[in-house]
Amino acid sequence: MSKLLVVNAGTRGEYSVSRNLAVKFALEWKAAHPDGEVVVRDLAKTELPYLHLPWLNASLTTLEAHTPEMKEVLKMSDELVDELLAADHIAISTPVHNFNVPANLKSYVDHIVRKGRTIGAAGGGCFRARRPLCSWPPVGSTPRARRSVTGTSPPSICV
Ligand SMILES: Cc1cc2nc3c(=O)[nH]c(=O)nc-3n(C[C@H](O)[C@H](O)[C@H](O)COP(=O)(O)O)c2cc1C
Repeated sequence: MSKLLVVNAGTRGEYSVSRNLAVKFALEWKAAHPDGEVVVRDLAKTELPYLHLPWLNASLTTLEAHTPEMKEVLKMSDELVDELLAADHIAISTPVHNFNVPANLKSYVDHIVRKGRTIGAAGGGCFRARRPLCSWPPVGSTPRARRSVTGTSPPSICV
């Protein structure tokens, strides 16, 4: 069974263009993967602290050497990483805020880039084999994107 992780960064609730596109994308994905599961990570409702020294120390310590305090400080990051690694496809919907991604999406990236979990100890990517799908601009607006949604070609980055 395939799993789609939809990461929503938009903060305008039902008025959000990017969120509504993500809903449309998920419906199309579900039609192409009837047995698939859609998991939604709503960054507008996820409290993500900025990275701080205890977090950095914990993330740079090998998993085996983690103290209970380190485990606690990485709890949210671990949850996000588990969710990400369990996904076969990933759709990120986001507005542009001041020439960049919104702060909540940058924070999300900070929390999912984890030595020994999503990147190797030497900086190589454990996650490299996965090819994320991105729902902006509108998914299905290009032949390549549409083929990805319908599964007739491998998922690729649609920008
Ligand atoms: C605070 C803020 C900053 C923005 N900055 C930019 C920007 O730098 N460049 C741009 O093209 N659009 C910018 N926009 C417009 C949004 O990216 C655009 O309207 C987007 O569709 C909003 O997505 P949403 O409806 O999911 O919130 C900004 C919007 C807001 C609210």
